[in-house]
Amino acid sequence: MINVTSTHLPNIKKYQKYVEQIFASKKVTNYGPLVRELEEKLRDYLGVKNVVLVANGTVALEIAYRTLDLKGFAITTPFSFVATTSSLVTNGLLPIFADIDPKTLNINPQNIEELISPNTSAIVATHVFGNPCDIEAMEAIAKKHKLKLIYDGAHTFGATYKGENIASYGDITTLSFHATKLFHTIEGGALIINDDALAQKARYLINFGIENTESIPHLGTNAKMNEFEAAMGLCVLDELGTIFDARKKVYERYLQELEGFVEFQLRDKETTPNYNYMPVLFESEEQLLRVQKALNKEDIFPRRYFYPSLDTLSYIEPKQCMPISRDISRRILCLPIYVELSLEMQTQIIEIVKDNI
Ligand SMILES: Cc1ncc(COP(=O)(O)O)c(C=O)c1O
Repeated sequence: MINVTSTHLPNIKKYQKYVEQIFASKKVTNYGPLVRELEEKLRDYLGVKNVVLVANGTVALEIAYRTLDLKGFAITTPFSFVATTSSLVTNGLLPIFADIDPKTLNINPQNIEELISPNTSAIVATHVFGNPCDIEAMEAIAKKHKLKLIYDGAHTFGATYKGENIASYGDITTLSFHATKLFHTIEGGALIINDDALAQKARYLINFGIENTESIPHLGTNAKMNEFEAAMGLCVLDELGTIFDARKKVYERYLQELEGFVEFQLRDKETTPNYNYMPVLFESEEQLLRVQKALNKEDIFPRRYFYPSLDTLSYIEPKQCMPISRDISRRILCLPIYVELSLEMQTQIIEIVKDNI
């Protein structure tokens, strides 16, 4: 069976060494030495000021909203994974959708300003498939209207914009280190925060709001990463070179072979991709379904991602309709891309796609 992705598991002996270290110290969680080491290594790798490791990318978003004291409405993208929207709702914020650009697949800044009201406290935007939003335009709008700017950077690990890691932009960028991501900690995530005081606040919030043994001044939760997860991250981090090289080959071959058959996301020229996803756009949903069925018949399972468009979620009131996001989500499919995907397997996928267009 070929899935849209396959978790990259690092050298087992290296992981076992870390496990032995954990058993010897009996330090399994609560901001242990491996979490600290991973934070430091990620800070260097990403070239950012503060990395706060957490249990997953969804709680990273929730902690970001609470760190920034968001209230009322947040303008957000309808074309993202459900967690971008559901995390707002579970934190008492109303998502106000701004439709996307049909080429870059990111929130269109031109649609944002008209939606801003006195109740708006933030913009929550996703760098879709690691392709950066229009960062300059977003920053200008946030500054002009004194809004907080949060980026869901779940897909951005390792991607850069104008030479800087994409995670360094905005008030807070959140990352997901789920096993399906190219860099992973089994389950996990992070907040990237430039402001030191806010980073400290986030650290309290992920540990029940406790500041010290005498004082619990914040309404916190438990969102900590554990040592076994950090150990996985340390091992995967060492293999990033191999991971990027292998994925790049698969990615570039898809681009070359499927050119003219499908449409690709328009990527910003100032960005280096990270090859985390291979999204392709079909002419129609019928065409997509035909290709998907043919692939499934051969035990190949691409993923309709993101689908459905988040403005169709039943629990969002008032109802909003985002035609571009709805259209794109009906026509987009992420093809299998991962380190171990062989040339033969990829050839089979490419042939089936071409034959069913
Ligand atoms: C854009 C986006 N945001 C948030 C998440 C949630 O991350 P996690 O699965 O680590 O909770 C994902 C997960 O795939 C995602 O793709």
